[in-house]
Amino acid sequence: MAHGHNSNEKVVYVGDSRVKKSNHPNIPPDYTAFPGKSEAFIPNFLLKEWMVGCVVLVGFLAWTIAEPAPLGYPADPTNAAFVPMPDWYFLFLYQFLKYPYVSQDYILLGTLGVPGVLFGGLLLAPFLDTGKERRFYRRPIASSLMFLSLIACVYLTVVSWDHYQHTLEANGQIPEHIEREEKAREAAEAGKERPNYTKPAPVASLVDADDPAMDIAKQAQCVSCHAADLKGQGSVPPLTGVGDILSKEEIAEVITNGRNNGAMPAFKDSLSSEEIDQLATWLSKQKTAAE
Ligand code: HEC
Repeated sequence: MAHGHNSNEKVVYVGDSRVKKSNHPNIPPDYTAFPGKSEAFIPNFLLKEWMVGCVVLVGFLAWTIAEPAPLGYPADPTNAAFVPMPDWYFLFLYQFLKYPYVSQDYILLGTLGVPGVLFGGLLLAPFLDTGKERRFYRRPIASSLMFLSLIACVYLTVVSWDHYQHTLEANGQIPEHIEREEKAREAAEAGKERPNYTKPAPVASLVDADDPAMDIAKQAQCVSCHAADLKGQGSVPPLTGVGDILSKEEIAEVITNGRNNGAMPAFKDSLSSEEIDQLATWLSKQKTAAE
């Protein structure tokens, strides 16, 4: 015959379909016919897992695009009141590291020793605990270890959270994420866009940059701290836009007497009152929005 088939060959059909039963060795049989046996891991099970994984990942992707992750305020290295906290699932480890024999001189014991033994033990459990018994009360060692770790984790988490709440209360602080949630809710109620803390605040450019007061600012070294474009640097605030927050009189007062224990120096001895007045008049015109 044209296809080289033996006309006597017996064709076996699967079920009612017209698909020939294949005897290909890599296609495993249907395991429903073999109770107690499971299907082949490779490729059947792996393919199914992979498909479910894809669906979950795409769903997750859509979710993260629809609801962007909330970003915190930019880190502020000068904020000494900040209370660092891990996410809740690490609170137990965080609290554990506060105890004297696993911190400071013994920090290696706390960070590598104890967690190493615990997680190593968990990793080796299938090899150490090989008994056939499955009822937990018949496996006293494994069960008591598990209950002990559970109780320890819950206890450490609760203590850590309690300690955190007391610190906040003592400092009169509102945690950043709660403050952020509040602001987001307020913005939503006012029908405004949710605040984005990663966007830098708009910095105004200088109004009347060629005013003679700018020369005074240069001579008096205002620019050495407030920067050549007066946009501030580091912890020195910008003077662009200062007219939005301070009046002319307030600005004159800051220049005359300084502020914050001389962080902003007093200029009453090095500048005449006319010069201070000229500076204050010009700076009070530094506003972000035109009136
Ligand atoms: C040694 C650095 C330094 C110099 C020089 C300096 N400043 Fe300041 N200035 C500061 C700092 C720091 C602050 C913030 C003070 C604070 O934390 O209250 C400040 C604050 C100010 C403020 C208030 C700004 C605000 O947002 O509240 C004004 C106005 C000001 N400076 C004007 C001047 C002028 C005008 C000159 C020049 C005559 C000048 N400064 C020179 C460091 C300086």
